Amino acid sequence: MVQVAIAGGTGDVGRTIVEIIKDNPRHEAVILTRKPIGDIFGVPSLVVDYTNVNSLREILEEHKIHTVISAIGYEGDAPGVSQLNLIKAAEASVATVRFVPSAFACVYTPEMAETFPPLRGYIRAIEELRKSTLEWTSFLNGYFMDYFAPGKIKSYLRPFPTVIDIEHRVAAIPGNGDVPITFTYSFDVARFVVSSLDLEEWPEESRMAGDILTWNELVSLAEEILGSEFEVHHDDIGKLKRSEVTELPVHSIVYKQMPKSEAQAMSAAFSLWAQDANIMHILGELNTKFPDIHPLTIRGLVEKYRQ
Ligand SMILES: NC(=O)c1ccc[n+]([C@@H]2O[C@H](COP(=O)([O-])OP(=O)(O)OC[C@H]3O[C@@H](n4cnc5c(N)ncnc54)[C@H](OP(=O)(O)O)[C@@H]3O)[C@@H](O)[C@H]2O)c1
Repeated sequence: MVQVAIAGGTGDVGRTIVEIIKDNPRHEAVILTRKPIGDIFGVPSLVVDYTNVNSLREILEEHKIHTVISAIGYEGDAPGVSQLNLIKAAEASVATVRFVPSAFACVYTPEMAETFPPLRGYIRAIEELRKSTLEWTSFLNGYFMDYFAPGKIKSYLRPFPTVIDIEHRVAAIPGNGDVPITFTYSFDVARFVVSSLDLEEWPEESRMAGDILTWNELVSLAEEILGSEFEVHHDDIGKLKRSEVTELPVHSIVYKQMPKSEAQAMSAAFSLWAQDANIMHILGELNTKFPDIHPLTIRGLVEKYRQ
């Protein structure tokens, strides 16, 4: 049994990992958090100060933390300060051997950080990990499938529907819609992450896939399953580069958590990234290693709308 600390285990992705790891008898989990929270799902928490590398190291050593999973968010100084200090503390800790940086997304490149500054912290984290003696891996899963069925499946992710509005049978396809994209359900991501703790070796990138479809295939599949034609719009690359996307009725739920202009810009940025198959087309390498994990498919997701 090894001790696993989940930094940001109170957040959307972190909480999902905590819920899955708590039932795994081979790992003992603890949450790292900035404020007292009691426990989550019976998993204890430790309050940490991410600005103080030495105090972080002491906590990792005192609790014999073998593996750190960082699921801290990408806002503010979280990736650029907190996560970098956590990596430095893990490197200094005599107890700590493995580190997972907060990714749970697509392949990030330094060029993407120029248009989406929160990624700078991630790029620096990878540089720091490459210099360290830690064994580490970034988990890559493409888009979270949860975003395409808000309220239809269990999820701790704040809703961020984009491109297709299954409930209202409308879609706005970015570009030609023919590039393959990976979609994975958050709880399947957590299952692959927790199962990977048992792997003897970690590659720099651990790839998984719930399903792989193009946007056009996704819309056709939804039309077939639901037996109704979607109203399909097309957002060309110029429109996406102006940080605009066609508004869908389902977008109104996003505006409760962020201004419309910000939501449009994020949607447009993600859609531009997904034009490049090298970015958002993540192959299911972990699926082959863990055949007992049967991830939710887009078909399974869309069928939730028939129930
Ligand atoms: N592929 C996708 O579609 C997708 C979607 C969403 C997220 N993601 C990725 O998943 C990862 C986690 O995102 P999330 O949305 O789950 O995060 P989140 O909920 O916004 O934040 C997770 C936790 O980070 C901690 N945190 C926040 N600011 C911090 C700071 N300045 N310093 C240290 N800790 C801080 C908080 O925990 P405490 O307050 O308890 O300390 C928070 O609960 C990110 O890397 C994100 O990019 C990917």
